[in-house]
Amino acid sequence: MTDNILITTEARVTTVTIDRQDKKNAITQAMYGAMADAIEEYGQTDTARALILTGAGDMFTAGNDLQDFSIQGSGKSEEMPPVGRFLNAIRDCPKPLIAAVNGPGIGIGLTMLLHCDLVYAGQSATFGAPFVKLGLVPEAGASILLPASVGMAVANDILLAGRTLTADEAHSYGLVARVFADADLMTEVQAIAQSVAQSAPVALRRSKALIRNQKDQIADHMAAEISVFVEQLKSPDFAESVAALMQKRAPNYG
Ligand code: COA
Repeated sequence: MTDNILITTEARVTTVTIDRQDKKNAITQAMYGAMADAIEEYGQTDTARALILTGAGDMFTAGNDLQDFSIQGSGKSEEMPPVGRFLNAIRDCPKPLIAAVNGPGIGIGLTMLLHCDLVYAGQSATFGAPFVKLGLVPEAGASILLPASVGMAVANDILLAGRTLTADEAHSYGLVARVFADADLMTEVQAIAQSVAQSAPVALRRSKALIRNQKDQIADHMAAEISVFVEQLKSPDFAESVAALMQKRAPNYG
């Protein structure tokens, strides 16, 4: 249970809002669990026909909670952690997923977008995936989905050089479909979601299945990524990166 994920359904549109503003909407395991539940329910029932993912306040999400990362790396449980359930839920959701990126999206705040079918951003949104700067590797299939989305050169600039894109850059590279003024973002996205929710549902699902026709390959790649990711979570470089970030100093990798 968590109060940090708000879920509302109105006129067949479910909105999932990441709301942990004192920690820049960083996502804990409990929050992943709540998001996975909402997306699984959306995929399996006909209550809603469009789902919007967004953040509260002026941040989309600062990504995985850095303290929770350390717990994932401890390797104490064989059970799939909620972050894995969340990633599988967005990868496998048969119905349209819509992202309204209302501010910075970091780490999984960028990589989750690669599983969303319609991605819109406010002017102040930014996009970064500084995994290497944390001693980590990409997750969520980003090491193949990001090059497929923005091209290898820009993907490497983001994933290896740690570049953060502005909303306009993300739009020009094709990561984002449209950019709206911050104040208009939710109104615009809700109108798009309403229109999607009123479309023929079977045609929508079948169109999505045709567009996302490489699920098995992506699932295999995600499994390979996650095993490297977990190894890196246990590395001294990761521990040093997190300590440096928390202490607001430069990391020292020796
Ligand atoms: N996990 C846990 N806590 C986080 C967090 C994260 N991913 N991101 C931010 N926070 C917390 C900070 O620790 C701080 O908590 P405190 O007030 O108890 O000290 C609070 O959120 C505010 O963050 P702060 O860094 O002071 O705000 P800022 O405006 O100066 O910077 C960010 C905002 C998002 C740029 C910065 O916090 C950041 O870089 N966060 C880490 C992002 C990241 O690397 N995510 C993982 C990607 S793989």
